[in-house]
Amino acid sequence: MQPPHLLLFLFLTLLLPGTWADPEAETQVLQLLQTILFTNVSSAEVFGVTLLGDVPIYALDPDDWSLRFHWPWSRQAATEGDMGKIKSHLKVALRNMVRYVHEVAQKVQLDYPLVIQSRAGCVLHPNRTSWGFMDVGEGGRDLIAFEVERQRWEPRQMSSLAELISKSLNSKKAVTSLLEHLLSISCQSHILALCRYGRADLERQEMPVATVFARTPRPDQLLLVCHVTGFYPRPISVAWLRDGQEVPPGPTLNTSAILPNADLTYQLRSVLAVAPRDGHSYACRVRHRSLGTRSLLIPWENHSAAPTTSITIAVLLLVAAASTGGFWWWKRRKGDETTWETQEFMT
Ligand SMILES: *[C@@H]1O[C@H](CO)[C@@H](O)[C@H](O)[C@H]1NC(C)=O
Ligand SMILES: *[C@@H]1O[C@H](CO)[C@@H](O)[C@H](O)[C@H]1NC(C)=O
Ligand SMILES: *[C@@H]1O[C@H](CO)[C@@H](O)[C@H](O)[C@H]1NC(C)=O
Repeated sequence: MQPPHLLLFLFLTLLLPGTWADPEAETQVLQLLQTILFTNVSSAEVFGVTLLGDVPIYALDPDDWSLRFHWPWSRQAATEGDMGKIKSHLKVALRNMVRYVHEVAQKVQLDYPLVIQSRAGCVLHPNRTSWGFMDVGEGGRDLIAFEVERQRWEPRQMSSLAELISKSLNSKKAVTSLLEHLLSISCQSHILALCRYGRADLERQEMPVATVFARTPRPDQLLLVCHVTGFYPRPISVAWLRDGQEVPPGPTLNTSAILPNADLTYQLRSVLAVAPRDGHSYACRVRHRSLGTRSLLIPWENHSAAPTTSITIAVLLLVAAASTGGFWWWKRRKGDETTWETQEFMT
């Protein structure tokens, strides 16, 4: 019946060693994503957000073009290096940019509305080398890009518009050398400042919550679903074990993309197609940085017992395991319960 199975489950999840390796230093990407909507000759709406990896750092207030900081530490980091100067010149720079686009639009008779998007920032490797980038698109297509080392704008599409804009921007030497400085020196030192002030939030780890259940699309097919959610950071390893052996990639195995949750955690599901009552045992194995060297191992229980019973027993066993376990187990169980409820609601 249930208890031996669950005991094994508890035991394995707590003690099974994993091979998850935690790389000490990682490549960091800081980027400013900006969209400007030009509705007509006299209007422009500016939207902008800065991200370090997948973490929002600050955003532009579309109403007054001031910066909204997502964290107390992103405000602190913005007091260092060139950020003070950038902040105080931000509105003037945006005004110039908007005026420039309107001028070009009138010169070459572009039709409104216009959407200009840009992505600018830098990549910093663990060996402290970095490279900057800036790409600009129009109407959803690449238009021009800035080659930081050469301090030059280059067309990214075959059009007279791209040619004309690169040429006109390349003639503004003061702007290209300022851009080169911002995208290499300032950007790199801003990443280092953000990492220093925001360490606790940037290095946050959230444990995955994994649930295993089955779907029966056809009488002769069983789909075992392993749903893993609530984890951070993004890298994760999810595998199916058949009789303890990892199932290799193939037509019966289908793992989804890693999708974002609203709370800056991630989820994915891995689906294994099997024949009903094939005599094998199956388990889903999850490895993640937050679990250290342990793995989560969730067996598929090949009979439709009421999930609430298993949960109650799991709580009892949890009390017994409290000395060995930790907070994360508690979290896991709670997660299972909510997922089961959702599942019941959906079916
Ligand atoms: C331009 O667009 C803005 C925002 O959509 C609108 O409020 C304004 O009246 C328009 N101006 C003209 C001259 O069409
Ligand atoms: C630094 O690391 C990056 C990425 O690993 C590599 O491409 C680059 O060549 C390295 N640079 C130096 C100077 O070691
Ligand atoms: C994998 O899952 C996706 C999404 O559910 C589906 O579109 C696709 O057909 C599946 N592939 C296989 C091989 O089952």
